Amino acid sequence: MSTHSKQKRLTTASIRAMKGNERVVCLTAYTTPIARLLDPHCDLLLVGDSLGMVLYGMETTVGVTLDMMAAHGRAVMRGVSHACVIVDLPFGSYQESKEQAFRNAVRLMQETGCDGVKLEGGEEMAETIAFLTARGVPVFAHVGLMPQLVNTAGGFRSLGHSEEEAVKIRRDALAVDEAGAFAVVVEGTVEPVARDITASLRVPTIGIGASPACDGQVLVSDDMLGLFNDFKPRFVKRFAELSPLVSQAAQTYAEEVRSGQFPAKEHTFQPKR
Ligand code: KIV
Repeated sequence: MSTHSKQKRLTTASIRAMKGNERVVCLTAYTTPIARLLDPHCDLLLVGDSLGMVLYGMETTVGVTLDMMAAHGRAVMRGVSHACVIVDLPFGSYQESKEQAFRNAVRLMQETGCDGVKLEGGEEMAETIAFLTARGVPVFAHVGLMPQLVNTAGGFRSLGHSEEEAVKIRRDALAVDEAGAFAVVVEGTVEPVARDITASLRVPTIGIGASPACDGQVLVSDDMLGLFNDFKPRFVKRFAELSPLVSQAAQTYAEEVRSGQFPAKEHTFQPKR
């Protein structure tokens, strides 16, 4: 990527500066064509490890690898000219040590050209976040519901209902802000806690299932486009219903191939005379 095109895109510093001024619009993207469509409308595009579930049909994000994130990060960067792009560090690629986190974050930034990385974790990740940011790796933190912890948390559910949970999420959010994260995803968290965190942090909170109190919002694009028939959690609003359109198109295609209606004359090459 040229220095010129890099300068035109929003940076992690511009996202951080939106705190208190403008709401941050973020969506996930995993491929070049979808990145091209979303880019003009978004401040931030997240190559989330949710791609394991959305694109690869995995049950959780635990099986996602660094190679997968690098490949999809490169694909997204080919489709972007405006938004800041962050790529997720997948499960197991950063929890072992701050040095492991730095090595793998640098790999993602060098191989994809993205602007920074996201990692899940609060107080326990603060030292790693400080290590990365001090060495030139912008970090998008992620607190509240952390999907990579599904096996120890015992499933996905909203958090902050008990005082103990609320205290933990507040402490996590303050710790990652203090450590130097440029923004923080707050996932699956009850409104009063999300509101409180947003008021306390110096950097933008980006909510997903964490109420309108956050400084910005993120959704998985395929969810908000209605590409799944069978998945509609409370926090998702469908801004389109694409799955019946795709089914209908496939059905019509199949009928036309079977009947010989497609391909027609206008789809057929003839020898030039
Ligand atoms: O992996 C992901 O897409 C995410 C967002 C849903 C925040 O972490």
